Amino acid sequence: MVSILDKNFETFIQADEIANEVKSLARKISEDYAGKEVLFLSILNGAFMFAADLYRNISLPSQISFVKVQSYAGMESTGRVDEVIGLTEDIKGKELVIIEDIVDSGITIEKVKKLLSKGGPSSISVCTLLFKPDAFQGQQKPEYIGFAIPNKFVVGYGLDYNGYGRNLEEICQLKTGE
Ligand code: IMP
Ligand code: MG
Repeated sequence: MVSILDKNFETFIQADEIANEVKSLARKISEDYAGKEVLFLSILNGAFMFAADLYRNISLPSQISFVKVQSYAGMESTGRVDEVIGLTEDIKGKELVIIEDIVDSGITIEKVKKLLSKGGPSSISVCTLLFKPDAFQGQQKPEYIGFAIPNKFVVGYGLDYNGYGRNLEEICQLKTGE
């Protein structure tokens, strides 16, 4: 059991299971995009560890870049405004693979895809380590999914609870009753 701030978590996916799955995702992507040039876009902060391990197993001529999604309450009636920040590459005509830590409701990833599509890439696909099918409200499921998990809060391997827990080598789930 691991305590983070006021909560207790228990091991849910062990480090060696994660490593095997990450390698298998990298193999699949490398096969699917053979002969093409890919630009990987990793979403910070949560995906940094997954992106590093995935990318070192990718065998394609490719580049990787790191972006952040900034949400802020606008002054207009539309409320929340989202922006992808940190993108310096021209994505026009590129094959994009977005690397995400977790797709929960799907709202974040759908926003990111919509914003990126304005840059005219030739394709966009999503590779997420974790996916919560019961929470998902989006239109299109991620093309590459490491683990489909129950609708419970998880931390570790890049994912945080209020900024903590990202350094855990395994993925831990909030203990029942917490
Ligand atoms: P969305 O609901 O798919 O838009 O997910 C939004 C963001 O919430 C994700 O990118 C994560 O950063 C975060 N998130 C969702 N579920 C979890 C979780 O179980 N643990 C840690 N972060 C999460
Ligand atoms: Mg995230």
